[in-house]
Amino acid sequence: MCHTSKVWHIYHLSEKVNMTITKETIVGVIGSGAMGAGIAQVAATAGHSVVLYDNNATALDKAKNNLSSTFAKLEEKGKIKSAQELMGSFSFSGSLDGFANCGLVIEAIVERLDVKKAVFADVEKVVSDTCILASNTSSLSITSIAAACKIPSRVMGLHFFNPAPLMALVEVIPAIQTDATLIPAAKQLMLDWAKTPVIAKDTPGFIVNRVARPFYGEAIRIYEEGFADIATIDWAMTEIGGFKMGPFTLTDYIGHDVNYVVTETVFQSFFYDPRYKPSFSQKRLLEAGWLGRKTGKGFYDYTQGVAMPEPTKDTEKGNIIAERIVAMLINEAVDALHLGVASAADLETAMTKGVNYPKGLLRWCDEWGAAKCLSVLDKLYDEYHEDRYRASVLLRKQAMGNKKFV
Ligand SMILES: NC(=O)c1ccc[n+]([C@@H]2O[C@H](COP(=O)([O-])OP(=O)(O)OC[C@H]3O[C@@H](n4cnc5c(N)ncnc54)[C@H](O)[C@@H]3O)[C@@H](O)[C@H]2O)c1
Repeated sequence: MCHTSKVWHIYHLSEKVNMTITKETIVGVIGSGAMGAGIAQVAATAGHSVVLYDNNATALDKAKNNLSSTFAKLEEKGKIKSAQELMGSFSFSGSLDGFANCGLVIEAIVERLDVKKAVFADVEKVVSDTCILASNTSSLSITSIAAACKIPSRVMGLHFFNPAPLMALVEVIPAIQTDATLIPAAKQLMLDWAKTPVIAKDTPGFIVNRVARPFYGEAIRIYEEGFADIATIDWAMTEIGGFKMGPFTLTDYIGHDVNYVVTETVFQSFFYDPRYKPSFSQKRLLEAGWLGRKTGKGFYDYTQGVAMPEPTKDTEKGNIIAERIVAMLINEAVDALHLGVASAADLETAMTKGVNYPKGLLRWCDEWGAAKCLSVLDKLYDEYHEDRYRASVLLRKQAMGNKKFV
């Protein structure tokens, strides 16, 4: 409901909860790490006053300095008007009390359900009953977080991607308790923050972190079975598959602490479905503290002077690798569509904008023909006799009916 021209936006969110967000709404962000600081930057750039809170004073200081130098660089490049003005829209808080006047609070703290639940319950003691609460969790249940709140209908997921200021995609996730009217409003808000929102069902990994699992998992399995080394698999996925980064380069970049934990959480959350099974190779990297680029070692060794391994550029082998991983990815996307995790359009947007896939997986399926994808999977299934390779019933139906998705 828009009253006057002075009000930039008013989203009448719900008769029941009666929450509104305008440009004047103060946005609170909990956690000033990689994601929290990025989300705070996005909200401030969209014109909001922002309260950034962290329970670690050093982390909060670091975020303040980083934001200040980021805004200075953006001003130099002419991308923002005034760094000083934007920094002026921030307050940095060492306590939750700073959120008292917030109309929206987004949480981006450590990925632990018990800690998130406790923080949400504490935030509710400070904010008004009309404040919307969102979690940036990558893999935890929004429904479970909402259950810790006295007003669960105001809780939702707003899942940004790293780095938040640069990645367009935001997954908007209603918990089963979320007031339905909040979702279109949240979607509109994200559009106003220059983001590309998609709506995802509250299921493990939402869209991207579910559908992308085989990109890592199947690549690691191919490596563990000795079919090809990491450099060759990375080469196959970039040169033949058309992906920007190969799975080993990418997981080294993401960090095995983050990537392995998401895999493990998704696997457990899916009641141990073998499709999402984590690998020992990655677990050992985590145990060794070889977290990837940030520690100088992961699948690759980034120590200065150490040469990167060369791939074996065998096209026949490369095709087998790329086809196997892409077929697994397509199957995930098709199954997510079958189970109503997201619409076909949102699935395509999520994978192209959230993880920069060269094309949407449903379109990829159409281009291959569902029958080809099905035959790759059925061959693997016959070979392994593992549930991991079961084709989605929707893929089978598409193949039988010779149908297209997009
Ligand atoms: N890093 C990614 O690629 C990525 C992408 C999307 C979503 N996420 C999700 O975003 C969240 C944050 O991830 P991150 O990578 O920014 O982590 P991070 O470790 O960089 O930052 C987390 C921050 O939260 C603070 N914190 C921890 N517990 C707290 C508490 N109880 N109260 C207040 N502050 C607390 C820490 O001091 C730290 O500064 C996680 O839920 C993660 O799953 C991460």
